[in-house]
Amino acid sequence: MERESWGGKMGFWLAAAGSAIGLGNIWRFPYLTGANGGAAFVFIYLLIVLTIGFSVMLAEFAIGRHTNLNAVGAFQKLKGGPWQIAGWMGVLAGFVILSFYSVIGGWTIKYILSSFTGMISTSTNSTDYFLNFIANGPQTVLYHAIFMAITIFVVYRGVGKGIEDTCKILMPALFAILVILIIRAVTLPGALAGIDFYLNPDFSKITGKTILAALGQAFFSLSLGMGCMITYGSYIKSKKDSLPKAAAIITLLDTSAAFLAGFVIFPTVFAFGAEPGAGPGLTFITLPKVFALMPGGQVWSALFFLLLCVAALTSAISLLEVVVAYAIDNLKWPRHKAAIGIGGVIFLLGVPSALSQGAVSLNILGMSFLDLLDFISNNILLTVGGLLISLFVGWVIPDIAKKETTSHGPFAFQTIWLWICRVVAPVAIFIIILGGFGLF
Ligand code: PHE
Repeated sequence: MERESWGGKMGFWLAAAGSAIGLGNIWRFPYLTGANGGAAFVFIYLLIVLTIGFSVMLAEFAIGRHTNLNAVGAFQKLKGGPWQIAGWMGVLAGFVILSFYSVIGGWTIKYILSSFTGMISTSTNSTDYFLNFIANGPQTVLYHAIFMAITIFVVYRGVGKGIEDTCKILMPALFAILVILIIRAVTLPGALAGIDFYLNPDFSKITGKTILAALGQAFFSLSLGMGCMITYGSYIKSKKDSLPKAAAIITLLDTSAAFLAGFVIFPTVFAFGAEPGAGPGLTFITLPKVFALMPGGQVWSALFFLLLCVAALTSAISLLEVVVAYAIDNLKWPRHKAAIGIGGVIFLLGVPSALSQGAVSLNILGMSFLDLLDFISNNILLTVGGLLISLFVGWVIPDIAKKETTSHGPFAFQTIWLWICRVVAPVAIFIIILGGFGLF
């Protein structure tokens, strides 16, 4: 049977942007920024994205389009041996990340519905509301199941009819909702203090931990380091389409989405005197408080959580597709079996994460099960994966890499990119990981 592919360039761009733009942009980026001192964190994040992030994304696209294979198959075909480990780590990361990602995806569905049933009201304590909900085992597992079922359904339908068509509708919708919310946020009285916090850097807040957090966030947000962009790149048919251009567009879209999400959250939070450094609860606890004080708050709340849900869905699809593509290419499973079977296992793996938020006590190394998986996957699996991919392209397959990226762009482009892959990115990632763990 012929391998599936994207219908066209636009479909690929939107699907890849759909993968990149997710909870990482709208939930994680603003709370990390808030907790790490605002603009200084944003500055370091941007620096990492434009150098390392863009380069690793292009590396993944090149590997993917050249081999037309999933993450594991691609490394096997190009070199084999220990390099396969990079592919395996990617498949593992797909399992792990989606298991907890879907739990939070479930929370967003619950919050869309709850916007209309009393959650958004000045007499509701949003902290208690959130804590009660995430401690309610049956409910969190139910919403996790619903979110996972939708994800499986899209992947089951395949690359063109499922993933591409879904993203073609949802991505424009997402940007439309984002724009509406920004207009509302920046026109609130008192919004300026939020914009100031967001754009005025305080470099004294930067530590080794902050930089590791920015690196982990860059990989997570751009869907890098785990073969996701290898997989999506493997469905590109045309050898003529420019991969540097695609990587630039997707990096730009993802970064603008994160940056714009900050313009919804910080002006809103400051306008109503809430705390920007509230951590993971920023979205689920602080914003409902703020919505309760806004005229029409229920509708704004529902719209915001719909935005979050849509973003999460198009990313979850790509996480599942990494594992499904492996099962189809390497194990010769039919797509429907792969989507349902693997999706089912990931659902089960997510249940402890869903329950770890208060329903049962499940703390390891001082973190809840969900936080632990999040920590391991972002700070270790993705960063080490990114390091390996970058070394691989720079040193093992530079000729293939050059062939896949011939462009009419500036002459020095390829050379700079290859040296970033060979030296700059690996060394930076290595140092940042060690520094983040306090090792020097
Ligand atoms: N990029 C997604 C987000 O920002 C998460 C993701 C990570 C998706 C890795 C695929 C691979 O939410």
